[in-house]
Amino acid sequence: MLRIALIGDVVGKPGRRALAQLVPDLRRRLAFDILVANAENCAGGKGITPDTVNELFAAGVDVVTTGDHVFDQKSAVEALGTPRVLRPLNYPPDTPGRGWTVVHSPLGVPVAVVNLLGRVFMKPADCPFRAIEQALPELRAAARVIVVDMHAEATSEKMAMGWFLDGRVSAVCGTHTHVLTADAQVLPGGTAYITDVGMTGAHRSILGREIHAVLAHFVTGMPQRFELAEEDVRLSGALIAVQEETGTASAISIFQEHLPGHLKENKHTSENQF
Ligand SMILES: [Fe+2]
Ligand SMILES: [Fe+2]
Repeated sequence: MLRIALIGDVVGKPGRRALAQLVPDLRRRLAFDILVANAENCAGGKGITPDTVNELFAAGVDVVTTGDHVFDQKSAVEALGTPRVLRPLNYPPDTPGRGWTVVHSPLGVPVAVVNLLGRVFMKPADCPFRAIEQALPELRAAARVIVVDMHAEATSEKMAMGWFLDGRVSAVCGTHTHVLTADAQVLPGGTAYITDVGMTGAHRSILGREIHAVLAHFVTGMPQRFELAEEDVRLSGALIAVQEETGTASAISIFQEHLPGHLKENKHTSENQF
């Protein structure tokens, strides 16, 4: 049995710090063989840079996936120079970077990781369904175990991708909304599915940003500078067990780890006690 952990959107320095500090113990407890992290916002909360993705690799991440913010920093193209950093597969054909890669578990099992981008309530992109359909023969020739990061806003589009790929890939895990969902399940064909694996960053926030700035934006309609939040830092993700001979998933569960010392005293903590 192969164990794959997929961690949700790593936001800025708090997110990178959470990974560096929490992954070693998490690896011991969850015993995963492969670690995938969506980190499209790991550089200052916007995009990726070579230095920030290298920090993630040093923390133990095997593959970095991204999404709609992948090109927010100039040096993103350089960061995409390594095959272990992905941009969505369904970008136009000449876009720099790649949409999937193959890494090997410590025992040498090939694992393909694919990055897709949704189109509902998002910037225009090519059809993710057609893109994965087209790539599947090559993917299946390269690896039995295939993990898909479906970076999308709409729950329905992510679910549709789960059912579209059920029995054809090992897992379809959603990212982008920064909220860990309670719908982890193995679909009838043997594909593990979850709508969103959540966020690795400050949770006393609005999606990792300072609450007051985002609130002011919504209340006044005026543009604001969205500083990164720093309190209540957590790492969120899903753990998937896959039979390496068939690529079929047998289980999926979620996890959320707190970074100690990052929650100020407050009687209404984010984990309310009854
Ligand atoms: Fe995103
Ligand atoms: Fe994000």
